[in-house]
Amino acid sequence: MSQNYYITTPIYYVNDKPHIGHAYTTLACDVMARFKRLDGYDVTFLTGTDEHGQKVEKAAEAVSLTPQHFTDQVSQNFRDLTKAMNFSNDDFIRTTENRHKAACQRIWSILQDNGNIMLGKYEGWYSVRDETFFAETELVGGMAPTGAPVEWVEEPSYFFNLSAWQDKLLAFYDENPRFVGPESRFNEVKSFVKSGLRDLSVSRASFKWGVPVPGDDNHVMYVWLDALTNYLTATGWPENGPAGDKEKYARVWPADLHMVGKDILRFHAVYWPAFLMAADLPLPKRVYAHGWWTNDGQKISKSLGNAIDPNHLAATYGLDQTRYFLMREVPFGNDGDFSVQAMTQRINGDLANDLGNLSQRVLSMVFKNCNGIMPAIPEPLKSEDQELLKSVDSLIINVRRHIDNQAFHEALRIIWQVISQANRYVDSIAPWALKKTDPERMAEVLAVLSETIRKIAILVQPVMPDSAGKILDQLGVDPTQRNFNFLVGKARLASGQGIAKPEPVFPRFLDEG
Ligand code: MSP
Repeated sequence: MSQNYYITTPIYYVNDKPHIGHAYTTLACDVMARFKRLDGYDVTFLTGTDEHGQKVEKAAEAVSLTPQHFTDQVSQNFRDLTKAMNFSNDDFIRTTENRHKAACQRIWSILQDNGNIMLGKYEGWYSVRDETFFAETELVGGMAPTGAPVEWVEEPSYFFNLSAWQDKLLAFYDENPRFVGPESRFNEVKSFVKSGLRDLSVSRASFKWGVPVPGDDNHVMYVWLDALTNYLTATGWPENGPAGDKEKYARVWPADLHMVGKDILRFHAVYWPAFLMAADLPLPKRVYAHGWWTNDGQKISKSLGNAIDPNHLAATYGLDQTRYFLMREVPFGNDGDFSVQAMTQRINGDLANDLGNLSQRVLSMVFKNCNGIMPAIPEPLKSEDQELLKSVDSLIINVRRHIDNQAFHEALRIIWQVISQANRYVDSIAPWALKKTDPERMAEVLAVLSETIRKIAILVQPVMPDSAGKILDQLGVDPTQRNFNFLVGKARLASGQGIAKPEPVFPRFLDEG
């Protein structure tokens, strides 16, 4: 039986249209999910929408729709985005679904029954935009640290005894040094917890749009307790719920990776493990916090109206080009800036010139100079052939290491190093010049190059599934032979099969703007 791998995106607030930031988080998960599937794992990849809370209630009000009607519409935009971006999620969860409400009420009851939730009174500041409570000392110039406005809230509220979990959390972090990535963010989490935790208000009584607190209709659950529980809901937990699936839960939970943006790390690395410990449920294995995109140096915000629409990017630059750019341009974990110039450079440099040109010129030579029949890899190999094949053969080990650390940019960088090496090999041997003088050597060189391209195309499938698929089609690689088993051992590109006239896969982008 293959090993399971459960990966989740945050669930997206439905108060807004999807933009590049949302697409980015899900894309990173999609690349992880596709990579793990090709590497033999049984993957469960979850995304969805976060539909309760005051923010969504207000957004619905603003357009004169009922919250349910409003969330139906906006949630669909996120579902459409998964198609448009070729995301391979296995499930799409909405927090307004019955399966989810049942899971929330179940976790609440467990926490309440074992004495971790108690009724009290909340007095303090609340930011609707962040759906977060703030202490007086956390405010900056009368605003939330994020710059969002805060309002004074005074209402009866249930509290989760977060403070009681401080030491257990710190011990857990010590025992699980890979729990949060990148490391610098893990340190921030640890100092936050070390500085002391206050009990957390986990219900609201002043609005209605949420999961009712079991046994107390005056309260709805705090949207973050509701939202975080989605990761459990989708596993078929609880087994006696409307979507209960004991076998799936046992197989899938705990999650291998919660991918989040840096702004929501605290919820995932502090609150969520505390809730789970308190409910006596296993904790996720890893949370990774990525950075934020800006647009030409400016923070993306609704009020500036400078959100970048991922559909527009895909239509303008090509879907795989967009996917590649987002994963390659910025070291994953850091903040990054979107600019047309950077996008154009990646498309024309890395894709059109480096990979596109390599594959196009090699396959065209096979087509023209070898009668369209794939030549055989020489036996024994010449030292220059050996050198190139050694580089491409050893890629998987290092690419896998980088992907397991969510260093997508590094994985791509080392693949592109080998692409450059292959281009230098073509340039120095100049197989086109061998057609008359040494056709046998020409065929050998083209076979070594075709094998190099095969491995590279297999490796870039998670990032550029369609384009890599086209290159593998052109090489005549059977669709059942495109997983990572075919990168190791004796697996080599078959010879003797005919290839069709190759078509360029990566056109240049001409900025006409
Ligand atoms: N609903 C909560 C998450 C609940 S998870 C149990 C939420 N939703 S969100 O829609 O506001 O944000 C979702 C994700 O999008 C976050 O990971 C956030 O970091 C990411 N991004 C939103 N804007 C972004 C950028 N400008 N750049 C990169 N990612 C950003 O938070």
